Amino acid sequence: MRIAIYPGSFDPVHLGHLDLIQRGEKLVDKLVVAVLHNPDKRAAFSVAERMEMLREMTKDMPKIEVDSFDGLLVDYARKKKAQFIVRGVRAFSDFEFEFQMALMNRKLAPELETVFLMPKEKYSAVSSKLVREIGHFGGDLHELLPESLLDRVVTGLRKQ
Ligand code: PNS
Repeated sequence: MRIAIYPGSFDPVHLGHLDLIQRGEKLVDKLVVAVLHNPDKRAAFSVAERMEMLREMTKDMPKIEVDSFDGLLVDYARKKKAQFIVRGVRAFSDFEFEFQMALMNRKLAPELETVFLMPKEKYSAVSSKLVREIGHFGGDLHELLPESLLDRVVTGLRKQ
């Protein structure tokens, strides 16, 4: 069984993530979308809320499992018996961080392969950080979020 982990903060999830999930699930039998539980970073949405939104977004996708993790990604991937880590690269600016992380993860767990996927061009400038900022100041998020999550994210971000 080919299992991949798609790890991230997903704070909040957006259409660029969904695009990656759709691409990733074609490659494997199971894709675990794993929300990092990072107590050092102040998040807009709790881990439980982020997982709920991911579950809502992927409810018709049988290969997707939504989970959370803390600690090292490689330890979590081993626990889930995954062979692959999936990460998205939107632009050249993502490359340096992703390259460092992939090489470090390879050092820690040589049996794990990192697979980079590119989202559709129209999502190449979309990030959770920008979604948070636009939402906070009342901007239009229609093209960045799935319809089913729009109200929830907008309400959550307005309160920040
Ligand atoms: O969505 P993000 O914030 O870019 O995701 C970053 C993430 C969660 C993939 C990364 O921070 C991570 O894997 N953290 C877990 C801790 C870890 O394994 N750190 C060493 C990476 S080399």
